[in-house]
Amino acid sequence: MIDNYIRKKISRLFTGENEIALQNRTPSHEELTNKFQDIDELGIYLHIPFCEQICPYCPYNKEIYCPDIAKRYTAAVKKEIDFYSDIVGKKPITSFYIGGGTPTTMLHSGIEDMLTHIFDTFNMQCEIHMESHPNHLSSDNLKTIKSMGVTNLSIGVESLQDKHLNTLRRPYTTDEAKATVGRAVNMDFKCVNLDFMFALPDQTYEEIEEAGQTLVDMGVNQVATYPLFKFPYTKMGSDGGENGYNISTVLKRRKMLKILEDKFYNAGFERSSVWAFTKKGIPKYCSVTVPLYIGLGASGSTYLKDIFYLNTFNAAEYVKAFENGKTAIALSLDLTEKMQMAGWLYWRIYETKFIKSSFKKRFVKDFDRVYGKYFKPLSHFGFLKENGKQIVLTDKGSYWLHAFEDFFSIDYISKLWGTSKQEPWINEVVL
Ligand SMILES: C[S@@+](CC[C@H](N)C(=O)[O-])C[C@H]1O[C@@H](n2cnc3c(N)ncnc32)[C@H](O)[C@@H]1O
Ligand code: SF4
Repeated sequence: MIDNYIRKKISRLFTGENEIALQNRTPSHEELTNKFQDIDELGIYLHIPFCEQICPYCPYNKEIYCPDIAKRYTAAVKKEIDFYSDIVGKKPITSFYIGGGTPTTMLHSGIEDMLTHIFDTFNMQCEIHMESHPNHLSSDNLKTIKSMGVTNLSIGVESLQDKHLNTLRRPYTTDEAKATVGRAVNMDFKCVNLDFMFALPDQTYEEIEEAGQTLVDMGVNQVATYPLFKFPYTKMGSDGGENGYNISTVLKRRKMLKILEDKFYNAGFERSSVWAFTKKGIPKYCSVTVPLYIGLGASGSTYLKDIFYLNTFNAAEYVKAFENGKTAIALSLDLTEKMQMAGWLYWRIYETKFIKSSFKKRFVKDFDRVYGKYFKPLSHFGFLKENGKQIVLTDKGSYWLHAFEDFFSIDYISKLWGTSKQEPWINEVVL
């Protein structure tokens, strides 16, 4: 109750809106063509909504893999690519990320075909980043992944202690995960990232210390460390237990992250976002490397300066929409300038550093005039440093400012994703 009141007040301060309502209005082909007139470059996100099992904590849009729907899904994604073909034209695509669900469920069952169509249609000027599940990374599959052109591979290892793998219901042992990572590291990708979850039930600081050491000893280029968030619409979230905003949970997460930070810094990694640590000199593996992007697939979301929209979450409905000659856009939101600026700031805080002039380039407004009154005190209390024209969050600032962002995003995600999962074509979602 009080949480919601605080959220509404702060949201109003930054966005100028009493409520944010996404509606089932589909932008037309002509409207989108016009929006692309003044866009110079963009990214592509492709969502693969299939997994071999459903993990009890996972908030992402996914369902159990089935070969028949995967085949029709491939055909539908190709139609969506065709829909964007003349809208995007030959504008450079400077970032391409394949996420899920589990993209590697579709190895040898459509993903190669989708990629070929993307590369034949768009002006791809970027590498391929893809998520994968440890159980899919046999030597043969790793060779296939390389031959598809994937240069940056993320592996959802999640834990390196059998006890915690068990709690998370992950279907492999620590030894198997280590062997998989070893195989991937030897394949000469530009970046191998591991996803690692912490602050798990009954996890101790000693276990974090030990896992942190194993992570740096494995020879990977990046580790993304996420504290376990409990989304109310997941099995773990609905089972109750400690609440994510409980102060002791927030402090425990901070202490565990500090242990991991020390391990990574001592091993020559540097912070590349709030939760990620990348070996110095390696380009970071990241889902949002450009400010504007189109999202393909079920639940794919698109952000084009003054509009944000997302596809239906339901894979069968997504497929049906394209089989019936339609698009799959389910909800959209027109963004005022104040909302765009708030969104811009959200992602720059997530990345932990930014150049103030990039705000002026995007909005033709001086950063200090718009946000100076908030940033000056944050600098005074050691949450950030201003290096000339750059703002860099300190380790303390990265954690606390992001904990503050999570206070909003976990709630927004729960409302938007939780409702979209239940109702494929909903009229309105109010955040
Ligand atoms: C789409 S999954 C990764 C790929 C693959 N499906 C897998 O599970 O191996 C993305 C990552 O989000 C993180 N994640 C998922 N649910 C989470 C939660 N409730 N709290 C924190 N991190 C979570 C996990 O680290 C997971 O690897
Ligand atoms: S964590 Fe990965 S494998 Fe598990 S349900 Fe989520 S996307 Fe699927």
